Amino acid sequence: MSFLRTEKIKLSPIKQMELLASQIPDVVSLAQGIPSFDTPEVIKKAVLKALGRGVAAKYSLTYGLPELREAIEQKLADEKMYYDFEKEIIATVGSIEGITASLISIINEKKDEVILFSPSYASYPEAVKVAGGKPIFSGLIEKDGWKIDFADLAKKINAKTAAILFCNPNNPTGTIFSKEDLFKLAELAWKKKIFVICDEVYKDFIYESGDCFFSLAQIPDLRKMVIRVFSMSKIYAMTGWRIGFVHSDEENISEIVKVHDALVTCAPTVSQYAAIAAMEFADKEAGEFCRQYQERRDLICGHLDDMPEIFSYQKPNSSYFVFPKIIKNNKKGKVNSWNFATDLLNKAKVAVVPGIAFGPSGEGHIRLSFGRDTKDIHEAMKKMKNYLNEQSV
Ligand SMILES: Cc1ncc(COP(=O)(O)O)c(C=O)c1O
Repeated sequence: MSFLRTEKIKLSPIKQMELLASQIPDVVSLAQGIPSFDTPEVIKKAVLKALGRGVAAKYSLTYGLPELREAIEQKLADEKMYYDFEKEIIATVGSIEGITASLISIINEKKDEVILFSPSYASYPEAVKVAGGKPIFSGLIEKDGWKIDFADLAKKINAKTAAILFCNPNNPTGTIFSKEDLFKLAELAWKKKIFVICDEVYKDFIYESGDCFFSLAQIPDLRKMVIRVFSMSKIYAMTGWRIGFVHSDEENISEIVKVHDALVTCAPTVSQYAAIAAMEFADKEAGEFCRQYQERRDLICGHLDDMPEIFSYQKPNSSYFVFPKIIKNNKKGKVNSWNFATDLLNKAKVAVVPGIAFGPSGEGHIRLSFGRDTKDIHEAMKKMKNYLNEQSV
């Protein structure tokens, strides 16, 4: 019906791909970024105890259980981020709710543009639109390891800019923004008085120790303009529990919490208990997930190395994604990634995400998830190789 405001909002292409894939039997999917692991036993056991005690069935405070927020405060302090659990942290329904609630509280008629890097997480543009804003893309520079293009970024900021929203490490490229570049970004945002929303859900999956991760939320002077989100989804293999958190200065959080209340009342209480247990007991398992993702990264990159005439790619140093560029028969500009991915799905029964899902600079690429287990990775890459050998792109 044409009068619905949400007509302009699309289902994320990642989910569209998973939907298409679910209709075809025997598809191997490297599409959606879902960890193959189950939630660690220690978390499940603690949840059973909470259920047994009868404490998990009711709403929590809108901000979340105090004991969860205290645990988050402690975890953040260990990472040199100092936020008061009573007023500066909200437990959210995954990080995406924290992002959307933040955008809804930031965007207004005068300031309705949100700058997103391209490529970056496919759900951001729709979250911006849900909040009544306009996504504005600033392309990353692929040849420099998907670095920020500061000349372009400066051009994109104007009086209507409300915020810059980005993920670090970046999805889909698996790259990490340097501390130096983050400082430059913060300086620009500071001068122009705009918010910076930092989504750091992959920060625990970093494979080569030389690449240092830094968060702008560590800088006390920036706390009024930096809103940071994090999630239990990836690190503890808890995507289905829908639990994450947002933190910032009290001034911002006191606004965001009103949106959070209107949207969801509180994060699921049972999942909040799971999150407490995760932070208390499951770091060993999280470390093991990271070790296995590194092996899977090397495995998938090995397969890509076998197809140098078809793909060029940068080895990701974080997250569980690799973002190869399709170079085969690519003399006349970029390959249409949607057509490439749907053909691959229909003919080879392999689901991947078309690069265009991540913004205009993603066109001509596909995203492969190595969150899936090694059997799936082997099978998908073998099928892809056979298909590509038979096709001209
Ligand atoms: C960069 C990034 N941010 C946020 C999310 C949302 O995760 P969740 O809402 O489960 O925390 C995802 C999920 O894939 C993601 O890749």
